[in-house]
Amino acid sequence: MVNYKDLGLVNTREMFAKAIKGGYAIPAFNFNNMEQLQAIVKASAETKSPVIIQVSKGARNYANATLLRYLAEGAVAYAKELGWEKPQIVLHLDHGDSFETCKSCIDSGFSSVMIDGSALPYEENIALTKRVVEYAHQFDVTVEAELGVLAGVEDEVASEESHYTKPEEVIDFATRTGCDSLAISIGTSHGAYKFKPEQCTRDPKTGRLVPPPLAFDVLDAVMEKLPGFPIVLHGSSSVPQEYVDMINKYGGKLPDAVGIPEEQLRKAAKSAVCKINIDSDSRLAFTAAVRKVLFEKPAEFDPRKYCGPARDLMEELYKHKIINVLGSDGKA
Ligand code: G3H
Ligand code: 13P
Ligand code: ZN
Repeated sequence: MVNYKDLGLVNTREMFAKAIKGGYAIPAFNFNNMEQLQAIVKASAETKSPVIIQVSKGARNYANATLLRYLAEGAVAYAKELGWEKPQIVLHLDHGDSFETCKSCIDSGFSSVMIDGSALPYEENIALTKRVVEYAHQFDVTVEAELGVLAGVEDEVASEESHYTKPEEVIDFATRTGCDSLAISIGTSHGAYKFKPEQCTRDPKTGRLVPPPLAFDVLDAVMEKLPGFPIVLHGSSSVPQEYVDMINKYGGKLPDAVGIPEEQLRKAAKSAVCKINIDSDSRLAFTAAVRKVLFEKPAEFDPRKYCGPARDLMEELYKHKIINVLGSDGKA
């Protein structure tokens, strides 16, 4: 049993309370490899932003759960080396699909876990979430739960359609489970294709897809039921068109990729939404940079020569999110 406090990590409780009061949101960036983590830590340390580094079950399978834990421990040491005296870093399990996965993470040093029972019938979601909360809270680990279903495909959680969170359920759910934060569905979804072209309009000047707005009325109703309760937004990548264009220019094929416009995320960050999940944008930046190098220098075969530029582009992306979208810079 490893306690996260011994690794220099923190849970989300105080972080979220400050974010709600201060009208900003904490970035929750997924990572699967060293370059992503280096870029996240550097961007957070240099902007003094609290940060949630999160791993999915797929990431644990890809990178090895033990190695990931040591990477996270290394992240704290690296942050200090960069001059961040008291790093505010949360190690979080993204989309935990069972009590056992959550327990395994808690036992190995995670400071926060998500139990995603959103695809289960309501009472089963409550029972599973409550069980995870009871275990996690013994070790002061915080728990994110989910109500409502996001469309899109993830490793372990897949859904064809989204179902907005029902505001009339949130008080009962939060009270009976004891969860520390709640992910809700208001129209975001996972991946780089968040909306079908037929759900969007087209900008007559650029020909780009313009997605429909998020359901802020649902968010407002949830906040009215649970004043001051930490709300989480998944599926919040913006799918920057510059990366999509780069990928397509250098041999990729991502037609009609579309994300959540940043002004909508800015608006959400000012509300009780205090954790915003971003994964796909980092994948796009990584891929765009790698494709560019390999296209321009076909003789290159040293991975440092293309993973290095990928890391730089991700760092730029993370800083942009922190400073210009979430407003979490200078808060740690
Ligand atoms: O919400 C899903 C995250 O983007 C993680 O994706 O399950 O492919 O690692 P993954
Ligand atoms: P994106 O696919 O929009 O980056 O969402 C990531 C996410 O919600 C991780 O849980
Ligand atoms: Zn998610």
